[in-house]
Amino acid sequence: MTLTQHPDPAQAVVSKTDLENLHKAWNSLPPTADEAVVSTIFVKALLEALGFGESERYPEFNTGAGGDAVDFAARKNTLDDIFLHTRQNPFLLVEVKGQNINLADGSPANQTTQAQLRKYLLSPKCKTAKWGIITNSTYIQLFRRHGKVVVPATANLRIEQDNLNKIVTEIKHKIENTPRALSVCVYNNKGGVGKTTTIINLAAILRKHEKKVLVVDFDSQSDTTRSLKLGTGKLSLSECLTNPHVDARAAIVPFTVEAKGKTIHFFDVIPSDSKMEEYTKESMAVRIEKGVARLRDILKPFHYEYDYILIDCPTQWLFFSQSGVYASDVVLIPTKHNGLTSLHNAARVIGQFIPEIQQERKDGAPIALPIFFNGEKVTDNARHIADSEIGKIIAQNKELLPYFYPKARRGNFDKTIFQIPAYASVANAAFAHVPAVFVNKVVSDHYDRLAKEYFLHG
Ligand SMILES: Nc1ncnc2c1ncn2[C@@H]1O[C@H](COP(=O)(O)OP(=O)(O)O)[C@@H](O)[C@H]1O
Ligand SMILES: [Mg+2]
Repeated sequence: MTLTQHPDPAQAVVSKTDLENLHKAWNSLPPTADEAVVSTIFVKALLEALGFGESERYPEFNTGAGGDAVDFAARKNTLDDIFLHTRQNPFLLVEVKGQNINLADGSPANQTTQAQLRKYLLSPKCKTAKWGIITNSTYIQLFRRHGKVVVPATANLRIEQDNLNKIVTEIKHKIENTPRALSVCVYNNKGGVGKTTTIINLAAILRKHEKKVLVVDFDSQSDTTRSLKLGTGKLSLSECLTNPHVDARAAIVPFTVEAKGKTIHFFDVIPSDSKMEEYTKESMAVRIEKGVARLRDILKPFHYEYDYILIDCPTQWLFFSQSGVYASDVVLIPTKHNGLTSLHNAARVIGQFIPEIQQERKDGAPIALPIFFNGEKVTDNARHIADSEIGKIIAQNKELLPYFYPKARRGNFDKTIFQIPAYASVANAAFAHVPAVFVNKVVSDHYDRLAKEYFLHG
């Protein structure tokens, strides 16, 4: 295990000239600037301010998906690779709209533009792109791509005269300190749906893909810690919570397996400990400095050291789960199709709990990933009942549709929901203290599909 200290990312600096030019550009925009005007006046000055000079940006960049072109792509030059000439390996994409397009949160144009950016970020010639911006010069929002996942990295910000400096500095700071990790909380406020099982097997399968994984057991019941047969490290997670001055690295314990006389290191774990039980009482939890935001702070340095940070939480929507969701970029939601309450609980997580945390975070994250069915045999009848229940859920809140039927399109109401079936070896793995994916090929293939469906970009 090699952990290098990542320096606290220095605040980005945007030069005074760049800021002045950006203000000039923004102020000179006519009241209803169309896309071409926003591009040539505002976005050029924006890219300049973000550190991309004239030969480091390219307009109408071909994404490699059919004839699709994104309005701008940008990347820093190296000595022998001038982006304007080679037009390869973009780092940042910008999708521009005119001021007549309403990009306010929740507007239809905002949603279609997000979908457009997402598609570009996942296109063949944009595999190296880590960041995407959507702007019409009235609104601006930054997104980050990690594997298949595209997550907001700022809120959808309304540009004003007096916040333009702050916005551009914040965006520059973020793109100059690209995190390595995606943090994933596995959560459904229904017990027994397979949260812990998913964490352990997902960690194991990501390791098979040579990803460096950190598992955080943020459940005082310690199911993850126990099923991997681990104990507390040099430092306990509860000490990390209560003492802001400790180095959380000392809480990491490696999960290893002995095979053929060798010790194989699979992934790292921050185990839970018995003292965490105290914080299940709200009266104790409120004593933790920064409350539910504390776990995110503890895990921050690890965002530059791991590929994935997987956070296991208990069922109740209290301190631990709120902290886990707060600390994550995305929330993965296992459900049961025959336990209809788990579908309704999933709807609450997506429609209520995650938005509550987004309100506090103020950077647009975390976001929900589409639900999946875990650990049951799906009979036609059971599926029919589940679909009818999902129909009711969506009728009440149309915004939930893509989280239940992610493949549904206009004109093709595809109701596919991802599934991990029930396997005895999954259920027994907790007693064997080895993730099921390491012992059973069929199970391994299922979790491989899960990792590819949600996370890994081929
Ligand atoms: N795909 C599966 N096949 C068989 N059993 C499963 C599967 N997923 C979970 N289980 C079993 O269901 C039970 C609850 O799973 P668990 O992961 O502990 O749920 P949670 O963390 O949501 O409470 C455990 O006994 C687990 O072994
Ligand atoms: Mg659990």
